[in-house]
Amino acid sequence: MTPDHAIEVDALSRRFGAFTAVDAVSFDVGRGEIFGYLGANGAGKSTTIRMLCGLLAPTSGDAVVAGARVSTSPEAVKRNIGYMSQRFSLYPELKVRENLEFFGGAYGLFGRHLNTRIAETLDRVGLHGHAEDRTSSLPGGMRQRVALAGAILHEPGIVFLDEPTAGVDPVARRRFWSLIRELASAGTTIFVTTHYMDEAEYCARVGLMVAGRLPALDTPEGLKATYVPGDLFVLRGPGAHADDARARLLAVPGVVDVATMGAGLRARCAADAHVRGDALAAALPAEVEVEPDTASLEDVFLAVVDAEAQARGAARAFGEGD
Ligand SMILES: Nc1ncnc2c1ncn2[C@@H]1O[C@H](COP(=O)(O)OP(=O)(O)OP(=O)(O)O)[C@@H](O)[C@H]1O
Ligand SMILES: [Mg+2]
Repeated sequence: MTPDHAIEVDALSRRFGAFTAVDAVSFDVGRGEIFGYLGANGAGKSTTIRMLCGLLAPTSGDAVVAGARVSTSPEAVKRNIGYMSQRFSLYPELKVRENLEFFGGAYGLFGRHLNTRIAETLDRVGLHGHAEDRTSSLPGGMRQRVALAGAILHEPGIVFLDEPTAGVDPVARRRFWSLIRELASAGTTIFVTTHYMDEAEYCARVGLMVAGRLPALDTPEGLKATYVPGDLFVLRGPGAHADDARARLLAVPGVVDVATMGAGLRARCAADAHVRGDALAAALPAEVEVEPDTASLEDVFLAVVDAEAQARGAARAFGEGD
């Protein structure tokens, strides 16, 4: 393990019977990095996390997490990391303090030190004064912060957060993410899964899983440049509603793709074609407004899933792959 890497993953795989949930994924995560792990339902994100947390043995491959090998030293891995599981990890009938005492006990914190850490951590996550509240009485966003407090109580160097903001409102999500950024800037490595693309934008790098594999991994900007290259324009107005608007735009030299976007169309053009917005407007039979647009991680996600489906289709056509 190099001093710069908090996590090193080497061809990590997990099968359940004949089914391969995680298929030889390899990547590194830097110290203090916010690393996002994206993928559709069932892609293999939680299975990867459970292996990296020492909770599930790999079928093959290995990973070094916080200096310990998951295959041979899962107990050391567990002690050195914090984990907020996808399924809710709090006892709703217990008070906030009692839930945190439970986490503390699991990590070997007791007595005065545990009480101090509970007070410090509740402050840290903005829950000062809530120690005696019954957990079930708190709104969802606050409960997520109690669960985060449980994961960071023992001051781990790496925290794994499996869909930590699922189902909470946008204001609570933003607040949760400012806590995540504070933790990372204090040196904690964050490994986080999410289905919210706006949250993925906050990550330094993003890995994108498709059916157990990890075909794409880069900064958000790098992913956009690779998977949604070129210039984007949005066209709105009567011209964009013409029956043959898509075909007319695709006939403009340099236009590579036209998709529906809101009440209009979005055209993607090859960068080296230097297509201008007025050339697109001129191709349509009626007035349109044309505005330049930028790629989103949602575009990237769809492009990666498409590319993987095509690659698998091609492999099948040649009698290879699954
Ligand atoms: N213990 C298990 N036994 C059999 N199959 C499993 C087991 N755990 C997970 N799987 C399967 O492995 C695949 C990956 O599951 P995983 O929970 O890792 O996906 P995920 O990316 O976290 O999905 P989600 O976004 O829905 O949380 C799924 O098809 C799931 O049904
Ligand atoms: Mg999951």
